[in-house]
Amino acid sequence: MRLKCDKISKSYGINKALQNFSYEFIPGVYGLLGPNGAGKSTLMNIMTDNLKQTEGKLLFDGKDIHELGRDYRRHIGYVPQQQQVFPGFTLRRFLLYISGLKGLDRKVAAEQISDIIDKVNLKDVLDRKLSAFSGGMKQRALLAQALLGEPSVIILDEPTAGLDPNERIRFRNIVSKIAFDRIVIIATHVVSDIQFIANKVMIMNGGRMIKDGAPWELCDSIKGKVFELQVGEKDIPEVEKSFKVCDMIKEREDIRIRVVSDRIPYGYTFSEIAPSLEDVYLYMV
Ligand SMILES: Nc1ncnc2c1ncn2[C@@H]1O[C@H](COP(=O)(O)OP(=O)(O)OP(=O)(O)O)[C@@H](O)[C@H]1O
Ligand SMILES: [Mg+2]
Repeated sequence: MRLKCDKISKSYGINKALQNFSYEFIPGVYGLLGPNGAGKSTLMNIMTDNLKQTEGKLLFDGKDIHELGRDYRRHIGYVPQQQQVFPGFTLRRFLLYISGLKGLDRKVAAEQISDIIDKVNLKDVLDRKLSAFSGGMKQRALLAQALLGEPSVIILDEPTAGLDPNERIRFRNIVSKIAFDRIVIIATHVVSDIQFIANKVMIMNGGRMIKDGAPWELCDSIKGKVFELQVGEKDIPEVEKSFKVCDMIKEREDIRIRVVSDRIPYGYTFSEIAPSLEDVYLYMV
């Protein structure tokens, strides 16, 4: 299975939301990292056939997705950004309803629902109303609906927004469990959401993909540019002016500042450290 984006662009008047995006997805987990307005949702809306590109082509196993139409869309599971659930529905009714929209027969739907709620840890709340779900449970319910119909491409647009650290970890674990043999694409601006589960990471900014590769490749690409400076409180403004600051840790009088820099920070007490994906993201964006 291959999903190929071939020079996709999307413009809104003179605003170029997405420019010349090319990439070939094969089964695996992909992290799409980028700040607000980078074009992540635009790309995902195009990939799910909810929005038409201005230029370029999307090919699923070599065939244009617009020609495939429904035959393409049935391969797609999608959790859009800020999606609402139906508060008055129980989880069971919600999932049966979506199964109906996806054209699954009732028996198949029942089997899939029972399997899916197990995977997303919602087995015990199948007959509870969605209005009584926490944010994390709602997000898992939305993931559950995306999995109905056993899609081979799963597209998740900021699935962890608003979740606490435990729910984030839980979501991450579920994603790794469902990823087998599928293309899973996760948009986020939280690096930790994808750094350990993504096989490939794409960094976007201003409608363009500015860097892509395996997490370790991206980290390697800025080797020798990440430093930890030891400074006093009074030096902070100067450091912030001169470097991209990734992190700051206060220890009694001393402050340790993690920076990413093209030049060696002579004049400070410093040591070179191994880059993280977070450093790469901050450096690139
Ligand atoms: N319907 C629209 N009309 C006009 N401009 C739009 C529309 N939708 C998106 N844009 C613009 O396209 C650009 C990319 O937006 P997009 O929503 O894809 O970014 P994003 O990376 O998903 O951001 P966020 O992290 O905030 O969700 C932005 O400049 C945005 O203002
Ligand atoms: Mg978005």
